[in-house]
Amino acid sequence: MSQDEIADLLAEAEELLENCASAEEVEALRVKYLGRKSALTAILRGLKELDADKRVEVAREANLAKKKIEKWLAEAKQKVAAAPRQVTRIDHTLPGKRYPTGKLHLITRTVDDIVDIFYGMGFEVALGPEVEEEYYNFGALNFPPDHPARDMQDTFYVADDVVLRTHTSPIQVREFQKRKPPVRIIAPGRTYRQEAISARAYCVFYQLEGFYVDHRVTFADLKGVLTAFAQQYFGADVKLRFRPSFFPFTEPSAEVDISCFLCQGRGCRICKHTGWLEILGCGMIHPNVFEAVGYDAEEYTGYAFGMGIERIAMLKHKIDDIRLFYENDIRFLSQF
Ligand code: PHE
Repeated sequence: MSQDEIADLLAEAEELLENCASAEEVEALRVKYLGRKSALTAILRGLKELDADKRVEVAREANLAKKKIEKWLAEAKQKVAAAPRQVTRIDHTLPGKRYPTGKLHLITRTVDDIVDIFYGMGFEVALGPEVEEEYYNFGALNFPPDHPARDMQDTFYVADDVVLRTHTSPIQVREFQKRKPPVRIIAPGRTYRQEAISARAYCVFYQLEGFYVDHRVTFADLKGVLTAFAQQYFGADVKLRFRPSFFPFTEPSAEVDISCFLCQGRGCRICKHTGWLEILGCGMIHPNVFEAVGYDAEEYTGYAFGMGIERIAMLKHKIDDIRLFYENDIRFLSQF
């Protein structure tokens, strides 16, 4: 092997060893350049066949080359040992990938929870149309023809005598027409009012109507049922307050407040420092409603109540803007 050939061999070895990425590659190169079958080993083995003067020269060259390669091998070994391992390792403690799942809208959940409670007290569920005849929405419910709620301001009119229902009370009339007492029903549904949109009012919202007609149904029954509901839904400590109010289709009428379950009645921002939260309207069904559906008001009495679903969900979950229910922002909805 000539001196030039040794120089070429060294240049090649240096470059390959510099680009080694693993200990296995370094070992393969050690075998290639210094192993039993390598060119250098062959030279060193053949020394004894050479002339004495030539032998010294070649031996010096070959030993020098061997030293260089050994040095590069040691460097390459160190480099690959320090480099991060390329091995893929599985971390068994990592949490698994979560696939997004859908969930029920908070309004649906709230309706379901409230329906469950009344279902447990013997109420049946009934539904009615959202596009409703003026007669069911107002007339049969004892609204006088000139009542301000019929005004274009509050009611979406679809035709002269057809409206988007402004409350779930027309379902009372529809069910009374279909049935004879005893009638014990809850009726959830979507309602519409042409109102200025704000944090507290929206043009679409949900109500849940409840009504019970039978012999000798009294206001005390109404109080009992509503108290049982509120204690199941908001907590056993909750107290109820009935304030006199007015609805055309009930007499007497009341609005019901619950003691603020956030501050236990001491007063806070949510209850506007009154200690009370309004949750529904109610009363004893007006004899004129019974007359409109052909029930004998001398024989039967009944109560009715209606609550705003968003308002109840807002209180329970401390939500301060009703519009959030209708914006379909997943960041809001996924919290519930
Ligand atoms: N329908 C009434 C409203 O929308 C609520 C109500 C229902 C009041 C039943 C009394 C009885 O405000």
